[in-house]
Amino acid sequence: MRADTTGKICLDDIYTRPDPRAYFSTLRELDYHIPELAKPHFRALIEEYRAATGVRNPTVLDIGCSYGINAALLKCDATMDELYERYGGPEADGMSIAGLLERDRDLVRSRGGAAGGSGGVRFIGLDSSRPALEYAAGAGFVDGAVHADLEENEPTAAQRERLAAADLVISTGCVGYVTERTLGRIVDAAPPGRRPWMAHFVLRMFPFDPVEKALDAAGYETVHSAETFRQRRFATAGEQAQVLETLSAAGVDPDGPERDGWLSARLHVSRPAAR
Ligand SMILES: C[S@@+](CC[C@H](N)C(=O)[O-])C[C@H]1O[C@@H](n2cnc3c(N)ncnc32)[C@H](O)[C@@H]1O
Repeated sequence: MRADTTGKICLDDIYTRPDPRAYFSTLRELDYHIPELAKPHFRALIEEYRAATGVRNPTVLDIGCSYGINAALLKCDATMDELYERYGGPEADGMSIAGLLERDRDLVRSRGGAAGGSGGVRFIGLDSSRPALEYAAGAGFVDGAVHADLEENEPTAAQRERLAAADLVISTGCVGYVTERTLGRIVDAAPPGRRPWMAHFVLRMFPFDPVEKALDAAGYETVHSAETFRQRRFATAGEQAQVLETLSAAGVDPDGPERDGWLSARLHVSRPAAR
């Protein structure tokens, strides 16, 4: 298996298929479930935002949304186990992409406003993978899409306008691929006086300091969870050994879930400071 410079195996191939079947069948083997662990924290932040601002129906931008996974969990109150079965089970095997999309639109229609779902919240997905984003939008998981790589490029005027609608910005499994450059461009797109709140689940192996410094300079205050969240199992012993080395080199205590076989993340919540 190919690995990147941090030792983490490269799964890029499953992010760019026209439907989520390869994504879910591969990640199921690795017990990937960070979106499930993130869900109550995102939901709590949305509630806090509503209470603090009086905005009943906020817009949530999901960076690296892929096939619309966080939106599906929050909007339809779905679970990762349910999605693993939905796309990795025998029924999905014989379905066309049009059939998968139709089945997902039914899910959104029937459960999009369900009790327990994030009723009234609008989701915008940002991803550099056009096929994944098209699926997320076609399924109705996201209500708007920004296909961009803001690491490489400034947003276009139309993209800035969509980014500017974000009241909250969330991500799972994406910071690391994206850095303070992408987050800075999103903050720059915000209207004056309405910077979005943020919640990012970030692998411990990726230093968050540069992101925090950039957000601090833009007028944010960041709170870090003490808790660690198990993102997925290591794919190989080699991946585990190299990630443990990366953690040590980054000055992160390697005696965490990584020793027990789990890539693990922390939650970083950034709110505009009351200055
Ligand atoms: C590990 S997946 C996480 C997907 C989803 N958030 C989840 O947790 O299941 C990482 C996602 O980040 C996207 N990505 C990678 N580099 C990106 C970039 N520079 N800008 C936007 N998205 C990017 C990939 O296409 C992929 O969909």
